[in-house]
Amino acid sequence: MKISVIGSGGIGGTVGTLWAKVGHEVLFSSRNPEKLSALVAAAGASAKAGTIVEAASFTDVIFLAVYY
Ligand SMILES: NC(=O)c1ccc[n+]([C@@H]2O[C@H](COP(=O)([O-])OP(=O)(O)OC[C@H]3O[C@@H](n4cnc5c(N)ncnc54)[C@H](OP(=O)(O)O)[C@@H]3O)[C@@H](O)[C@H]2O)c1
Repeated sequence: MKISVIGSGGIGGTVGTLWAKVGHEVLFSSRNPEKLSALVAAAGASAKAGTIVEAASFTDVIFLAVYY
């Protein structure tokens, strides 16, 4: 399944990494996606980073975990 994470912080980063590690295609998004390289590397080969606009078009599911 393709899953976009909008808000790749503590919650989005942790849950998205778990989904990536069981084989889902996960796009972590950020207003500054270049800052997500360590998260993407830790999540493994089925994870990548992108913009929020890319996250909105990539996906089967959007996980919204922005700061409240
Ligand atoms: N941490 C917990 O234990 C916990 C428990 C229960 C519920 N929650 C809830 O889960 C949500 C996320 O918490 P968190 O601890 O993961 O927060 P966090 O680490 O601060 O991450 C939130 C992310 O939201 C993004 N963000 C902030 N403002 C934004 C905006 N205006 N537009 C787009 N993206 C924005 C930031 O991404 P960029 O700066 O990279 O764009 C940031 O990485 C919150 O609503 C919180 O109340 C957290």
